[in-house]
Amino acid sequence: MNSQENDESPNKFEKLIKDLRDEKVLEEYKASRDNYKTSFLPNLLGGFLVWCGNVVYGREPSYLKFRAVEVIARVPYQSWASAAYTLLTIFYTDEAKAMRLGHVKKFSRLANDNETMHVVVISSIAKHEHKHVGVLRHTIIPMLFSFFYFWMSYCLFLVKREWSYELNYLFESHAFSQYSTFIKRHAEGLKNKPLENEFLKQYGRTNTNYYDFFLDVRSDEIVHRNSSIEKIEQLSDEEKEMNLWFIVLIVVLVWVVAKIF
Ligand SMILES: [Fe+2]
Ligand SMILES: [Fe+2]
Repeated sequence: MNSQENDESPNKFEKLIKDLRDEKVLEEYKASRDNYKTSFLPNLLGGFLVWCGNVVYGREPSYLKFRAVEVIARVPYQSWASAAYTLLTIFYTDEAKAMRLGHVKKFSRLANDNETMHVVVISSIAKHEHKHVGVLRHTIIPMLFSFFYFWMSYCLFLVKREWSYELNYLFESHAFSQYSTFIKRHAEGLKNKPLENEFLKQYGRTNTNYYDFFLDVRSDEIVHRNSSIEKIEQLSDEEKEMNLWFIVLIVVLVWVVAKIF
């Protein structure tokens, strides 16, 4: 169940999501990566992101909090794909490296499409459930978070890829636990809410009520979480090393930007 193919092939990914509807299978799948110990820097950054989210949107899960979480959750996958293209600009003569970066792009595309589906459908649900969605709190602030998160994730990927994956592991763990709490608390109400969404159909899912939809979203998040650790395990020794050249480059770029402004 943990193979590289699951997180790069849309059909295998969807098959895994269907399998995870069984609570026992889900529990076993989740437990396989529960005890992963993340490093100090991703812990610090991940804790800060979650804390900011709790301050702005509250600790309790809600449709509007999910909307913001999903805007932000897409970002690491975009940053990994961008960072992979950046590295290909430098290492295009190294075929083996190019192939490995190809796997990163494939996984990132699939996860990004999945998160995009989440944000589109959840935005439509939030609009239906809340007549007023504030522009500052629910549109501008998530965009600012996303900007910050994109560059954090991109720089970490170039400097030490493991840290970028670990940061995503922490964010996806948070998303999974928020959806789990929400489903447990509102199961009956969610089952009675029908869902009709064209974007969801175009994506290829057939959920017809909120409950089934959120169950699958919760599974998506745990697959994203576990896949982040699988990506760490697939790194070569060279890819695991810290890249000092990129640290120098980033420091110089930050210095130049600070001088200009
Ligand atoms: Fe998501
Ligand atoms: Fe996710």
